[in-house]
Amino acid sequence: MDLFAAMRERRSCRAYLPDPVGDDVIEKVLEAATWAPSPLNMQPWEFFVVTDAAVRERIFDEAERCRLWALEKSGWKWLDSYRVDFLKQAPVIVAVVGDPGKTGVDMFMEEGNMGYQAACAAAVQNMHLAAHSLGLGSLWFTLFDKKALRGILGIDGAKVPLALVCLGKPASDIREIPRKAVKDKTTYLR
Ligand SMILES: Cc1cc2nc3c(=O)[nH]c(=O)nc-3n(C[C@H](O)[C@H](O)[C@H](O)COP(=O)(O)O)c2cc1C
Repeated sequence: MDLFAAMRERRSCRAYLPDPVGDDVIEKVLEAATWAPSPLNMQPWEFFVVTDAAVRERIFDEAERCRLWALEKSGWKWLDSYRVDFLKQAPVIVAVVGDPGKTGVDMFMEEGNMGYQAACAAAVQNMHLAAHSLGLGSLWFTLFDKKALRGILGIDGAKVPLALVCLGKPASDIREIPRKAVKDKTTYLR
């Protein structure tokens, strides 16, 4: 698949078929993640691949708890109808976990450890593009409490779960979310 087509056509998928995803396909998606750039090539990512239905149910429960918390905290009405059932539906959830110790030179800078997060974000985007090119839907999900997720997945306390990536066959066509024009987001200094 053409890279520009993949970037243009990938959409966040929030409804999945239960069809399992083969290990070979999961590995291709993970390999794509590891080709992402990272500060000093420190590769600050780790992946926890969840296919176990009981563990996905626990992740769902945690996300649902966070949804209700966010609804109360923000008062945002859309959270009322936003459902996180895709966490139970998606046959695969990959937790992308970052190591703040592998953040590069910015550990000495005022803004703090951002390099490892940026690298993990690049890895997540590679996963989305790879998944799309392999005919899978995917979702970048972050509505979880890091401490709770560490407990569910057995993640070392020094590492930071940054994203859950849902993977699976889409259950339906996905509505396109528009983008603002490039010219409205760009400043040229020529
Ligand atoms: C850092 C980050 C966090 C996100 N967290 C969530 C999330 O918790 N739940 C969700 O449904 N979508 C989440 N998304 C997906 C965005 O809502 C989605 O990318 C955006 O609305 C644009 O839609 P598209 O991906 O279909 O183009 C997240 C995306 C990013 C980059």
